[in-house]
Amino acid sequence: MAEAQRESDHEVAAWDEEETLAPMRQRLWVLYRGYWLKHQTAESVRLLEAQFEPRPDDLFLVTYPKSGTTWLKALAFAVANRQRHAAGSDGHPLLTNHPQDLVPFLELPDRRVHPVAGLDALASPRLLCTHMPVALLPPRVSALGCQVVYLCREPKDVLVSYWHFASKVHPDFTLDKAFQLFCQGVSSYGPIWEHYLGYWRQSLMEPHKILFLKYDDMMADPVSHVKTLAKFLRVPFSDDEVRRGVVEALVDLCSFDKLKSLQVNSSGVSDRIAGVPIENSSYFRAGKVGDWATHLTPEMAKKLDDIVEEKMRGSGLKF
Ligand code: A3P
Repeated sequence: MAEAQRESDHEVAAWDEEETLAPMRQRLWVLYRGYWLKHQTAESVRLLEAQFEPRPDDLFLVTYPKSGTTWLKALAFAVANRQRHAAGSDGHPLLTNHPQDLVPFLELPDRRVHPVAGLDALASPRLLCTHMPVALLPPRVSALGCQVVYLCREPKDVLVSYWHFASKVHPDFTLDKAFQLFCQGVSSYGPIWEHYLGYWRQSLMEPHKILFLKYDDMMADPVSHVKTLAKFLRVPFSDDEVRRGVVEALVDLCSFDKLKSLQVNSSGVSDRIAGVPIENSSYFRAGKVGDWATHLTPEMAKKLDDIVEEKMRGSGLKF
């Protein structure tokens, strides 16, 4: 009897969960070749596949959403353009432009913002950004040997960051719902583990083409990571630059506290996601490693850890 009761409780709970989660899943995403994409993003990915012409010297910054894209954009832009714009100079573009706007995204739900023609008009070498999983990158990107910098982050921190961001646009996207969906692999560009493993395996096969970075490691030692990034982007720091403290100046300019404090990043609203105006400050929330602990219960943390560990088993990738 008790057993039967437990079983039916379980069924009701599962039914309740599906009743709440399924409509939200359908409203927000479509499963496109194994990945959960916003409907308009899937359309954009299709367009890019047909129309985007990569060039051999293109540099791609690829991230899982909420893994530190804004930071990577700022760092890569500052590294690549440091001869024209010294990190300490008054007129540095990062002082007056949101980092999101300095490196264009490939796939945007609204193609009017960065139409393919706009990408074609950019001078080489182009610095471009995308959240696309490796399986959805236009095939010629790999065939041409384009370089890719991939940045990922501890999944529990991604979930919390993602929930904060998405709930601004969808107020009914509660942490509980975000968590349940995330554990099923359902979040923008998810499953997160497929995204990570795709680039991880590719980086093991082609380390000269894919630089695999972790947000948490970069936070622990930004200077050495920025040196690695510069080398990978084929603009290594000279001994003289290192002596003059150019690397540290650049790390300071792109630090969370510095960028968050700038007027361009702390005020105003921009529409970067197709008709969804969002505060510029939303891209600079806590900027911490381990902030998940203030939001997730130990049970939630264990459940997600166990799922991620199981998915990563045997790959050599750990968080
Ligand atoms: P939190 O929400 O945990 O604070 P993305 O740029 O991919 O959307 O990721 C956003 C996350 O990166 C946010 O995490 C944000 O605070 C953090 N972030 C933004 N700029 C940063 C910087 N300069 N250094 C470190 N973290 C940064």
